Amino acid sequence: MFQINELQSALQALLPVKVGCAVQQVASEAEAFQYAEEGSHLANAAIARRNEFISGRRCARIALAHIGQASCALPADLDGLPIWPSATMGSITHSRGLCCAVAASADKMMHLGIDLEKTTRLSARAMERVVHPLEEATVGEDQALGSLLFSAKEAFYKAQFPAWGAQPNFKDLALQIHSNTQQLSVLKIASNLPIQLRDATHRMKFRYQFVGDYVVTLCWLEL
Ligand SMILES: CC(C)(COP(=O)(O)OP(=O)(O)OC[C@H]1O[C@@H](n2cnc3c(N)ncnc32)[C@H](O)[C@@H]1OP(=O)(O)O)[C@@H](O)C(=O)NCCC(=O)NCCS
Repeated sequence: MFQINELQSALQALLPVKVGCAVQQVASEAEAFQYAEEGSHLANAAIARRNEFISGRRCARIALAHIGQASCALPADLDGLPIWPSATMGSITHSRGLCCAVAASADKMMHLGIDLEKTTRLSARAMERVVHPLEEATVGEDQALGSLLFSAKEAFYKAQFPAWGAQPNFKDLALQIHSNTQQLSVLKIASNLPIQLRDATHRMKFRYQFVGDYVVTLCWLEL
């Protein structure tokens, strides 16, 4: 297994300026909530779920500290979206014992989403659900590339949701992979989504890194 600092460096390399980030391993022993009010909806959740939530919140507070935000509770809203301190935004992801978070000032960033995925778990059936016809020729049956597209689309979902509340499907977005620069660009976005969201999507930036058997993807739009 790769070192956690490899993932930290990979993530750091993706970040636009003035975005804070943090990476942590999720504990296996039961942990306590740093702010009790954050975890009320997880009172009956399994230890693994509580721990990934707690690690995610810890990462989020470290990422926020990088942009000058003092530690505070980050409760979840009814959609499960973290409520970020005013004038900030961020995104959290966890996968198989690891978690990452990013945070930025709302006067510098319009949309921000992160996603971390294992590259060895996507079934052929899930690939079919995720890969857009325009992406098929590039991806073929390559599970790592399929996982990359899955991750990028999840990062996009998280980036747009706080502003738009849209619930696009995987096939509503087609992306082109630029492996020489570790970026993705938007080939197509479904015409049934709001025009302003479609315009913003075409201006969004996507970057990714493979680290061991994980892929981490960032999607953002600066102001
Ligand atoms: C919400 C969703 C994106 C989370 O992704 P995931 O890979 O399952 O899980 P991750 O660990 O990466 O992310 C979970 C975190 O995302 C955040 N989150 C939850 N709902 C969110 C939302 N609607 N918008 C933004 N962030 C959200 C939370 O911080 C959550 O962690 P927490 O509950 O511990 O705070 C996913 O479950 C989902 O509903 N996807 C919809 C389908 C989709 O992605 N379509 C692609 C469209 S092109």
